[in-house]
Amino acid sequence: MNHFLDIHKTTQSDLRAMIDQARAMKDARNNRPKGMRDDETPLSGRLIALIFEKPSTRTRVSFDVGARQMGAETMVLSGKEMQLGHGESIADTARVLSRFVDLIMLRTFEEATLLEMAEHATVPVINGLTDASHPCQIMADIVTYEEHRGPIAGRKFVWSGDGNNVCSSWLHAAGQFGFDLTFTGPETLDPDPRAVAFARERGSKVEIVRDPLEAAKGADAIVTDTWVSMHDPESARERRHNQLRPYQVNADMMGQAKPDSLFMHCLPAHRNEEATNEVMDGPHSVIFDESENRLHAQKAILRYCLGV
Ligand code: CP
Ligand code: NVA
Repeated sequence: MNHFLDIHKTTQSDLRAMIDQARAMKDARNNRPKGMRDDETPLSGRLIALIFEKPSTRTRVSFDVGARQMGAETMVLSGKEMQLGHGESIADTARVLSRFVDLIMLRTFEEATLLEMAEHATVPVINGLTDASHPCQIMADIVTYEEHRGPIAGRKFVWSGDGNNVCSSWLHAAGQFGFDLTFTGPETLDPDPRAVAFARERGSKVEIVRDPLEAAKGADAIVTDTWVSMHDPESARERRHNQLRPYQVNADMMGQAKPDSLFMHCLPAHRNEEATNEVMDGPHSVIFDESENRLHAQKAILRYCLGV
C-alpha cells in the first residue's frame, strides 16, 4: 500500500514511473479507435472516497472521472457535511472510512490533518492539496512540460509571486526531477525554507531574485498562481495585491524568457491579476493542458497507490 502525500516523500523512481504511465495512458486513450470504450479497468470493484474541506473544480472532477474511467466507483464527500466537520477526530474518521473504501483522497487545510489521516487509515491516502503543498498538480504539470518540451531535467523554471503551497511542490519536484528554480516575489512571501533546502540538497540551483525581469532571463518556463490562496485570510487581500502586483506575469516578463518558454498556472486564475490575459491566452500558455493532464496524472497516482 502506498500513500501519495508529497513529491519529496515519494521515491524518484516511483515519481518517474507515474509520469511515464500518465503519458502512456493519455496516448492510449487519445489514439483508441473512435467509439471504442476503455478496455483497461484496473480499478474495477474499488471504491474511492474524495473528501473536500475546501472548494475544487479540477481536482474533484479529474479524480472522479479518472477513477471511473479505470472502473472504480467514487464518493465525493464534503468535509462540512461529515461528522469530521462537527468534532469527530481525524483518526476516528480514518479508521471508519478504511472499513468502507479502498482509498481516501483528502483536500484539507493543515498538513497535520492529512498526516493524521494517513497515520490512522489502513487504506492509501492521497494529498489533494493542503495549505503546505499540492503534489498532484505538479505531477500533472511535469507531464505537461515534458509532452511539450521533452525532459524537464536541467531546465530553468521561474516562479513569480507568492511562495505558497503550489510553489513548495514545485521546489520538491525540482529536487526530485533535477531542474532549477528561481523564485521572484516579495521577501515577506518567500517560499518555505524547508522546500528550498530540499531542492538544494538534491543538487538543484534555487535562486531568490527580487527583480522579476532579472529573474525571468533565460527561463524555460514561468509559473505563477493566485495572489490569495484558499487558506489566506480575506483581510490580507489588499496587502497581498499591493505586494504582488510587481510580480504579475506579463509580456515584458515573458519577453525575458527563452523564445520557446512555457507559461504555466495551476488554475483557477484571477485574470489580469497574477498574469495578463495576453499571457494566459498567448502562444506560450499551456494552462488548459495542465488542467487536462490532471486527469492522466491522477490515474497514474491512483494506480500507484492501489498497486495495480
Ligand atoms: N488546480 C486545482 O487544484 O484546481 P481546483 O482547486 O479546481 O481543484
Ligand atoms: N494556491 C492555491 C491553489 C489552488 C489550486 C490555493 O491553495 O488556493
